[in-house]
Amino acid sequence: MNNQKYDAIISGMDLQKPAPENEPFRQFYFIERARQNLQKISASAGRKLTFCVVTFGCQMNARDSEKLRGILEEIGYVQSDSEDSDLVIYNTCTVRENANTKVYGRLGKLHSYKKKNPHMMIGLCGCMMQEEHVVQKLKESCRFVNLIFGTFNIYKLAELICGALEHPDRMIIDIQQSSDRMVEQLPVDRKYTFKSGVNIMYGCNNFCSYCIVPYVRGREKSREPEDIIQEIRDLTADGVREVMLLGQNVNSYGKNLRHPISFAELLEQIAQIPGLDRIRFMTSHPKDLSDELINVMAKYPKICRHLHLPLQSGSTRILRDMNRHYTKESYLALVDRIRAAIPDISLTTDIIVGYPGETEEDFQETLDVVRRVRYDSAFTFIYSKRSGTPAARMDNQVPEDVIKDRFGRLLALVQETGREQTARFLGQDKDVLVEQVNEQDADLVTGRMDNNIVVHFRGNPDLIGQIVPVHLDECHGFYYMGHAL
Ligand code: 5AD
Ligand code: SF4
Repeated sequence: MNNQKYDAIISGMDLQKPAPENEPFRQFYFIERARQNLQKISASAGRKLTFCVVTFGCQMNARDSEKLRGILEEIGYVQSDSEDSDLVIYNTCTVRENANTKVYGRLGKLHSYKKKNPHMMIGLCGCMMQEEHVVQKLKESCRFVNLIFGTFNIYKLAELICGALEHPDRMIIDIQQSSDRMVEQLPVDRKYTFKSGVNIMYGCNNFCSYCIVPYVRGREKSREPEDIIQEIRDLTADGVREVMLLGQNVNSYGKNLRHPISFAELLEQIAQIPGLDRIRFMTSHPKDLSDELINVMAKYPKICRHLHLPLQSGSTRILRDMNRHYTKESYLALVDRIRAAIPDISLTTDIIVGYPGETEEDFQETLDVVRRVRYDSAFTFIYSKRSGTPAARMDNQVPEDVIKDRFGRLLALVQETGREQTARFLGQDKDVLVEQVNEQDADLVTGRMDNNIVVHFRGNPDLIGQIVPVHLDECHGFYYMGHAL
């Protein structure tokens, strides 16, 4: 990954002067200051200091973690996979309660590492930290945590690390409730050389009644199209062949820009970028998916034949209650329009079971949609009560045993239809972007077709990052075995 362009600017920062006010130069200043602090600690420890960033949750968090890693490497920390490191950062998720429980559970283990390592610092960031009661609890019972920050200021990591290195006995807490700032010009450590996420917007304005995201990620903000295009051009110059455009609801991209532009227009511009082979995006809200977008997808084969289209529920009554702004019928009609324009498309979805007031009839409607749409795969979730959301205040919560029973039936159905759908490509030749050596068998490599389905085939590690035509020999449920042509 090419972060060299930052090295000269950063080492040229004059630490005798006060920190600049304007970003990203302020952070360059703090990277240099943290670097010098770290060098002193390294010298006294007699070794390089290590870091480990652990990501919980979605693709947005995964991308944020790449930004955190980029800054930490620039400061001079050495990356490690072990949580027994000198700096451990948990980038947290709070979309469901079990995400929070996991973090509390793992913090105990970190504390035991810290007791043995005098240099160790612990940082917590991300969505969970935007919840007041979480920070309160950490302040009361986890004083060993050095640094707490939220979703709006990850770009400030260098400044915060500086504070933590200079005041190791303090708990530094920096949570903002919102931000108009989008600071992007900072080092990033990409997990893959050949593919990358690209944030096109932040936040969400939809306030689905069960969802905590708008409260922890704030209001929708789109990046300027020129900035996005430039970032993708830079990525392709650096060897990236596939981008994943990221937003909570990409279909409402650009509506609030000074010069409004639709997501379909943005996609069309991105499709013109030379050297880019695949464009993905996530997530599409069904209420905003336009015919213009369907047409652009059909027109450009570079735009992957995959749409993640969260259903949440198949019951129009529940959908109204969820504030989703579509009905069972309009969702099915949308799927028909998509399939008519792009027949080989793979559709995937998210479904929640046990939303307050969900009856067996409502649940049957969900099963009916799954049978009709025939998703390639579906993420199924048990409804989780998130405090502060309208659904959490409803008193008709569904009993746990009823939810468990419905969840089992839904899972069986999505697995059955998923298997059948996935198998429809058997015997075809498809392009596969190779991602890694197979985890079980080193003679195989693993990659993805443009519809996101995984394929394993015999090949050597040189193929990583290349698009290889592969014949699909066997379908094993959700993946294929094939051979290179
Ligand atoms: N309970 C269960 N699942 C939820 N999701 C969002 N909020 C909740 C909740 N409170 C699911 C939705 C969304 C996905 C990212 O997480 O299905 O699409
Ligand atoms: Fe949550 Fe709905 Fe926004 Fe998705 S669109 S992040 S489910 S509020």
